[in-house]
Amino acid sequence: MLKVKDLKKNFGDSEVLKGIDLEVNKGEIVVIVGPSGGGKTTLLRCINGLEYCDNGTIEINNKFICENGNYKDKKTFRETRMEIGLVFQSFNLFPHMSVLENLIEAPKRVLKQKEEEAIKDAKKILSFLGLEDKINSYPCELSGGQRQRVAIGRALILNPRLMCFDEPTSALDPGLTGEIAELIRNLSKKGMSMLIITHDMNFAEMVADKIYSMDNGFLQDGSIF
Ligand SMILES: Nc1ncnc2c1ncn2[C@@H]1O[C@H](COP(=O)(O)OP(=O)(O)O)[C@@H](O)[C@H]1O
Ligand SMILES: [Mg+2]
Repeated sequence: MLKVKDLKKNFGDSEVLKGIDLEVNKGEIVVIVGPSGGGKTTLLRCINGLEYCDNGTIEINNKFICENGNYKDKKTFRETRMEIGLVFQSFNLFPHMSVLENLIEAPKRVLKQKEEEAIKDAKKILSFLGLEDKINSYPCELSGGQRQRVAIGRALILNPRLMCFDEPTSALDPGLTGEIAELIRNLSKKGMSMLIITHDMNFAEMVADKIYSMDNGFLQDGSIF
């Protein structure tokens, strides 16, 4: 589903990604662990097209976002990016919008979907996430775990093939880690691929099919740890 080859990224003089090779297969859960500053978030941002890489190849579902450092035209780039969902560490929900409004915003604006259709999809996802009764709540009225599930729902409604998570449990009470792990496992059983960054080894071991460790711009097979 995702193939990354020899990905390199510099910020000024500092080499942050020094040639990353990574594959995530359909329905597979790949976890990257490693110390802060190692380049994990930068890798996710490059894969999601939020940051341009300097060299390398990024391929999603047999379509290239970037080939040997060359980016495709804007339309292909945008279409390919739509195959990926990203959930940030801090959830990034719109505080002035209800749970429902948070979910239907992108389908309406990006996919130009009709509001009634988007609401139907949102209700299905909220019920899958166990959040039916929070549909009209605002983010400030939710617990950390509920906010995290809304953030996941907001990515899911765009029906991505690959979901990327940056530190999905770092803002949660430890007791909620298992809940998010189970949710991620259920999604992968439906064939969705997952790329997860975390500090939490316990969580990594709960969900991962494969663990990599990232340090100083390099990715290593984590099974040696
Ligand atoms: N936009 C940016 N401009 C300059 N340097 C950056 C930028 N984003 C990240 N960095 C640097 O890249 C390195 C890797 O950061 P990051 O990818 O956030 O690591 P991690 O997520 O593993 O903690 C850090 O040294 C950070 O300071
Ligand atoms: Mg980070």
